[in-house]
Amino acid sequence: MKKLLLLLCISSSCLAAEPTMGRQTEIRTMLKNTCASCHGANLQGAMGPSLQPTALASKADAMLIDTIYNGRKGTMMMSWKASMNQDEITWLVGILKSGK
Ligand code: HEC
Repeated sequence: MKKLLLLLCISSSCLAAEPTMGRQTEIRTMLKNTCASCHGANLQGAMGPSLQPTALASKADAMLIDTIYNGRKGTMMMSWKASMNQDEITWLVGILKSGK
């Protein structure tokens, strides 16, 4: 069983549970309409920093997930925990980093 979990973990790069296609579409829409209003139309950076793969490559997933889940106090970056759960945010960080 442990081996099976490990294999699943490797083959899906440890994404706990990928959101349903419907949720993926909703999250991508939010990214385009809402996140992009601060991070730039192509997420190239505007009022908020770039969220493109090259900008995120050196940044730890856990830090990025925490930033989206909890927001950053004292900045315009708010918490999105009311809109996405941790699995969804983990998936989102994956697509941001891969540019997919
Ligand atoms: C109201 C403007 C605003 C909106 C909307 C917004 N952000 Fe941000 N975001 C920021 C700012 C400003 C920062 C930088 C905070 C700081 O100074 O540390 C930031 C930081 C981040 C970071 C950390 C980047 C890094 O290089 O450390 C991530 C990841 C991020 N935002 C993702 C998102 C996502 C995903 C959404 C949509 C769900 C979103 N943001 C919506 C303003 C915004």
